[in-house]
Amino acid sequence: MSSPSHSNPLPEPVPQLDLAAQYAAIGGEIRTAVERVLASQQFVLGREGAALEEEIAKLCGVTHGIGLASGTDALILALRACGVQPGDEVLVPPFTFVATGSAVSALGAKPIFSDIRPDTYNLDPSELERRVTPSTRAIVVVHLYGLAADMDPILAFAKARHLPVIEDNAQAIGASYKGRRTGSLADAACLSFYPTKNLGAYGDAGMVVTNSPELAASIRILRNHGQSEKYRSTEPGWNSRLDEIQAAILRVKLRHLSNWQRARQSHAAEYKRLLSQIPGVMPPLAPEGYEHVYHQYTIRIEYRDALQKFLSERKIGSTIYYPYPLHLQPLYASLGHKPGDFPHSERAAQEVLSLPMYPELHNEQIARVVDAVAEFLKC
Ligand SMILES: Cc1ncc(COP(=O)(O)O)c(C=O)c1O
Repeated sequence: MSSPSHSNPLPEPVPQLDLAAQYAAIGGEIRTAVERVLASQQFVLGREGAALEEEIAKLCGVTHGIGLASGTDALILALRACGVQPGDEVLVPPFTFVATGSAVSALGAKPIFSDIRPDTYNLDPSELERRVTPSTRAIVVVHLYGLAADMDPILAFAKARHLPVIEDNAQAIGASYKGRRTGSLADAACLSFYPTKNLGAYGDAGMVVTNSPELAASIRILRNHGQSEKYRSTEPGWNSRLDEIQAAILRVKLRHLSNWQRARQSHAAEYKRLLSQIPGVMPPLAPEGYEHVYHQYTIRIEYRDALQKFLSERKIGSTIYYPYPLHLQPLYASLGHKPGDFPHSERAAQEVLSLPMYPELHNEQIARVVDAVAEFLKC
């Protein structure tokens, strides 16, 4: 490997995510929307939030949206509304962001891990049978990186056992599975508008979407101190209300989401075209009938940590989502799991690397990233 020559200036960095590029394009629209909220002096549960709930529900192809303070709260409240109680068991994949499991724990329930498929990184439907017990009360399915899980067999499994299914759709807004949008596939779905998501707020925000009027009504009460009418609480609840400034910002961004999604998909196609010439790299899979929205463009490669260092020396950003599967997190030490319990999740945690991916990325930047990966593999 040759070191960069002193006569050639270093090429521009390629960040893994560039939110500043997005703000440069839409800053004017955002400032107008924020100004509108400031002028209204209505900051919580107002017109912007109600409009966003309708718009997001429509995008997901369902009838109800309930705006919340975060994606984590969306999981907690959806699980509670589905009847999950302390001591219950909830099936979840171990290869996900910690919130999928900690939302279960927050209710005093127990996450029961069930391994993923090595090709999609999503729940393996054929593993569920081994993990279900008489104490199982729900299943949380994650659509990781922007790709839907294989829902039909999971829904059939759940239906046969009368178990509610919740989609953790934090990473896959806009994705679809066999012609149906993620968010509409199960009893309820949870969205995160964390700033780095495909639809990201300028702070924390989240939403539950559902076709069930009962679940929607229950979550509306739970998000506001268990109040079924003003100052009359019928159950313990939370303060998890969506604020108006975030809702107004999200409504601006929502107008751009389908273009951004197309840009992500076109970058993924370019990565795939270039990476297909490099043996030793596994690009993300998008099975027939699935629309992947590439929240992350995640490759799989041996010597992943060395590649990440190599890229970083060349000012190319990359991130490991996620280096520790949930069953090996210190948080879950008390569950007594050990390495080897969920081999596909453990191997993925050692081999995945998410490359630069955001709508404003250019083909020349993608070529630089892929050239660097190729150079690394020649070393
Ligand atoms: C898969 C997954 N689940 C849940 C969450 C939690 O969302 P939030 O950060 O909005 O609480 C996130 C994102 O952070 C996520 O990626």
